[in-house]
Amino acid sequence: MAEEVLVLEEKFVLTIFGASGDLAKLKIFPSIFALAEAGMLPANYWIIGYARSEYDQSSFVDLFRTSVQAYCEKNGGWSEKRSDVLEDLLQQVYYYRGQYDKASSYSGYAEYRNELTNNNFAQELFYFSIPPSVYVPVVQQISDIPDLDKSKVKLVMEKPFGTDEVSATQLFHVIGERFVEDQVYLIDHYLGKPSVRSILAMRHNNRLLNSMFKGKEVANIQITANEPFGVEGRLGYFDKVGTFRDMLQSHLLQVLALVTMSIPVKRDARSLRQEKESILSALCFEPADESVCLGQYEGYCDGVEDTCNLSTATFGALRLTINRESWFEVPIYIRSGKYVGSEKKTNVVVELKKFAFQSSEVPSNKVVFELAPTENIHFHLFNEGDDGIEPIEVVNSQTIACSMGNCLSDHALLLMEAIQGEQMYFLSFGEIIACWKIMDQVMEYTMNSLPERYQKNSRGPDGQDRLMGEGEVWMDSL
Ligand SMILES: NC(=O)c1ccc[n+]([C@@H]2O[C@H](COP(=O)([O-])OP(=O)(O)OC[C@H]3O[C@@H](n4cnc5c(N)ncnc54)[C@H](OP(=O)(O)O)[C@@H]3O)[C@@H](O)[C@H]2O)c1
Repeated sequence: MAEEVLVLEEKFVLTIFGASGDLAKLKIFPSIFALAEAGMLPANYWIIGYARSEYDQSSFVDLFRTSVQAYCEKNGGWSEKRSDVLEDLLQQVYYYRGQYDKASSYSGYAEYRNELTNNNFAQELFYFSIPPSVYVPVVQQISDIPDLDKSKVKLVMEKPFGTDEVSATQLFHVIGERFVEDQVYLIDHYLGKPSVRSILAMRHNNRLLNSMFKGKEVANIQITANEPFGVEGRLGYFDKVGTFRDMLQSHLLQVLALVTMSIPVKRDARSLRQEKESILSALCFEPADESVCLGQYEGYCDGVEDTCNLSTATFGALRLTINRESWFEVPIYIRSGKYVGSEKKTNVVVELKKFAFQSSEVPSNKVVFELAPTENIHFHLFNEGDDGIEPIEVVNSQTIACSMGNCLSDHALLLMEAIQGEQMYFLSFGEIIACWKIMDQVMEYTMNSLPERYQKNSRGPDGQDRLMGEGEVWMDSL
């Protein structure tokens, strides 16, 4: 039986700031195409690229076309059917050339948008695909657009939200003076991944699983996100932020929150975000060498020595605890590295405590959420057979990767939800501030530390092992 396709019915305007940039080309245009291909877009909508670059209507449409074609070639191939969908979509694509900080640009934009739409739309989404340094002036200018109907506005923003607690607080203050938080859709694309969402779904629907995820049952939790490649053309961006801000501050702390938070009784955006904020606010970082490890792969600065920073971490590992009676002294290890291992690997390993009487020869039980490259949940159990203790591995490879009859990418799914007004998988201001509080402590403690060098495609710096408590090891092979 064919599944029902969700169609977004209301007319909308989607304006993309920074429409000339990489994120727009690589993620946003293909996501809009994916929604069109899935038949989800309404009869009337307008996509307006906004940037300073010298495009006109025709060259911007060409840019949109080639970006989508390149995406399709890597994802399922190009076809006549896809070409027809794209040409229809391109009829709704426009370009407005303007500055980000000049009121005259925004009044010109408003005139242009009104000409196109006759002011007949139900919502106006502004997608921030610009560097975070430009967020504040753009929010200020949007709110001053002549004739703006604020009640129709949604702000869709990509992480990073600020660079520390102070800058994030300032951003949220500026937004909060002009809009309400319910109008803001803060993206961490990890929360668009079906495998990450399935952590919550599995916990919500299985009391068996959930009762294991209590501090008193858990020996430790390890969250790993390693990539076998380097910064690949993103050195300019990456060198300013490093792994702690790029990967740990949001992606891995979000995963941590989903694994350790209390399951909200109601499965709605407010309840979920409150629980995540609550557990993230309870995280503790002990400023000590046993709590943090920084690494940099050999050759990171090769060829760009003049501009590249030898103190940028391309590998980061942290030992955290949760300041809650229920999680007292349970270590939580998170790590991420570039040029680590031979394949992309993202997983969560929850190691359960053993009985006090259990033989040391019997390994502990483990629950593994494999998030990439494949999506699985594994239970590592044991039984006794003729030859003694035998491992049993129960694997569930059924995931929620394709929902509503369509397999949408992380960004496409999140874009659809922003248009729908579903905030469940977007971040709240409070969660982001809680994450920055922890990361600021890490940044302060490591301010004068130089990262340890590690060989490309090795397991990362040896220093990561000093984080482990007695009898603990990183579970590299799971
Ligand atoms: N690329 C990714 O995969 C990725 C992933 C996660 C998050 N993000 C975040 O998403 C946002 C956009 O990423 P991106 O890679 O597309 O960025 P980008 O290419 O550096 O910038 C996007 C556009 O913003 C404008 N711009 C660049 N620097 C500017 C400056 N200093 N002042 C004003 N405008 C400037 C440029 O457009 P014009 O000059 O034409 O106006 C540029 O084409 C960033 O916040 C980034 O951190 C990106």
